[in-house]
Amino acid sequence: MSSFEFKPPLIAHRGASAFAPENTLAAFAVAQELGATWVEFDVMLAACGEAIIIHDDTLDRTTNGTGNACEYPYSELKKLDAGSWFGLEFANERIPTFNEVITFLKQHHMAANVEIKSVVGQEETVVVKVLDEIRQHWTASMTPPLISSFSMPILQHVRKRSPNAAIGVLIHEWFDGWEAICQELNCVSVNVNEEILSRDKIKKIKSMDKLILSYTVNSIDRAHDLFMQGVDAVFTDEFPTLCEGLFAR
Ligand code: G3P
Ligand code: MG
Repeated sequence: MSSFEFKPPLIAHRGASAFAPENTLAAFAVAQELGATWVEFDVMLAACGEAIIIHDDTLDRTTNGTGNACEYPYSELKKLDAGSWFGLEFANERIPTFNEVITFLKQHHMAANVEIKSVVGQEETVVVKVLDEIRQHWTASMTPPLISSFSMPILQHVRKRSPNAAIGVLIHEWFDGWEAICQELNCVSVNVNEEILSRDKIKKIKSMDKLILSYTVNSIDRAHDLFMQGVDAVFTDEFPTLCEGLFAR
């Protein structure tokens, strides 16, 4: 079992994404101001190979750009407005680089789940870049990153190149052999869609001596229910609401 601590047991999903534009430095700053100790964010590669923080394959929903993010160099992506879609007061927000986010985490003593997004054919390239950034910038004083992905090839590349990396296996729907994959990857956590997380599956994951993290939980009742069953932490967009709600119980 890992030595990760989740206090409170809440991970600000894409930053404080109900309060600021997701996956921007503003969203991570608001999460920190609200008392979050952990954030989650999504990483993929720009066309030039820079590691950038964005959730969707396309730019359309969260920026004023259009088309696939991976087809633009960062020199173009950094000109885009990644905040106005959420609120005009965030018009200056940009798509951050992974390196900028690591710097923020270091300054604010925050821990993070780095979710690597899969672009077909780029699985190894993105892992090489993400691990390289971590080796260069993620200092020993920081809580080590929890690296997760829905892509098993990506996680296999992570394990091959980084025997000690803390891996989280993301599961949106159960599939045959998920237990064997978790063991083969020697993951520290299983990060499961809350809609499929039953009492039996929680017991099973506990018996495998893995942490259980669950996404995306925005209801206080559901979070409480999951914690009572042994879930270690939940990803939430509504960090302050869940935090206050859980302390009030
Ligand atoms: O890592 C938990 C969660 O972020 C996975 O789903 O689509 O929000 O990246 P998604
Ligand atoms: Mg994510």
